[in-house]
Amino acid sequence: MFILGIESTCDESAASVVKDGIEILSQVVASQSDLHHLYGGVVPELACRRHVDVLLPLIEEALSIAKISLNEVDAIAVAKGPGLIGALLIGMSVAKTLALATGKPLVGVSHVEAHLYAAYMEHSDKVLFPALGLVVSGGHTALVYIERPFTYKLIGKTVDDAIGEAFDKVAKLLGLPYPGGPEIERLARLGDNSKYSFKSGVVKGRPYDFSFSGLKTNVLYTIQGKEVNKADIAASFQETALQDVVSKAKRAAAAFGCQSILVGGGVSQNQRLRDLLCEKNIFFPSKMLSLDNAAMIAGLGYPLYMQGAKECFSLEAQTRIPFPA
Ligand code: KG4
Ligand code: ZN
Repeated sequence: MFILGIESTCDESAASVVKDGIEILSQVVASQSDLHHLYGGVVPELACRRHVDVLLPLIEEALSIAKISLNEVDAIAVAKGPGLIGALLIGMSVAKTLALATGKPLVGVSHVEAHLYAAYMEHSDKVLFPALGLVVSGGHTALVYIERPFTYKLIGKTVDDAIGEAFDKVAKLLGLPYPGGPEIERLARLGDNSKYSFKSGVVKGRPYDFSFSGLKTNVLYTIQGKEVNKADIAASFQETALQDVVSKAKRAAAAFGCQSILVGGGVSQNQRLRDLLCEKNIFFPSKMLSLDNAAMIAGLGYPLYMQGAKECFSLEAQTRIPFPA
């Protein structure tokens, strides 16, 4: 079963062909970071225009690399949200048009669930259930109990900023370009992570929830009007944020009897996080599947399609999708 996946939730346009939900035949991503770099964050209108320019050529490229024609594809999967409304609508229009023109079924996929599927699709033979899902992206930070594949229950989430957002905001405070996560990681390698004792967020009575806005303010007050070593700030901030995520994930896994942990989302690309969670029952996506991509959309599209999720013109872009739904 061949699924064509389309991703356009934020500032990455991507297309991919995946066989049977796990075998990636092609995956192409056009990052827009060059475009948003100057502005310190994603400019939605610019993101939309770029999606319009690149999505169709990317789909052609993905089909050509996979050596398959559009007619040979069994279904089309598209990220239906959460994300920027304009960006979502462009991916959705492309997907609906292709589905209408070819008569192929269309499957809408949640981008956040797909981030967890990215780790699963590469390690499905080793993952034991119940498992814990840890989503660490630019828009989400969550702990999810996964009783069995595709059955989720939310255990904890951020009450303010997402962890990736905190990396981006702290990077901005340090004068680093967008996206800030990789920049902080690079700078942190040169610094002392115990130089500053920043505090991670505690949410009263909710041991598995996260809060990163206080940590960001903590950094702001530490650097405001002072001469500081930026590498030490980056390293100390990164260590505090990552240790918070690691300790809550490990505590939740133990408390809920989870046998594996699946990690997903852009921050899962961070090598320090990978080192802190380097255990045989903890699974990360390969680095190319950590950031936004369409292979995870096509991959998750397969089980959804097999479960009978065939939507078409009723499918709507959703800027917010409660996860788990
Ligand atoms: O999953 P993603 O590509 O997009 C969303 O769904 O939000 O995540 C993007 C986020 C950004 O905030 C970016 O700064 C962060 O992931 N990120 C990182 C690293 N690479 C990307 N954060 C920390 N370390 C990294 N190496
Ligand atoms: Zn994402």
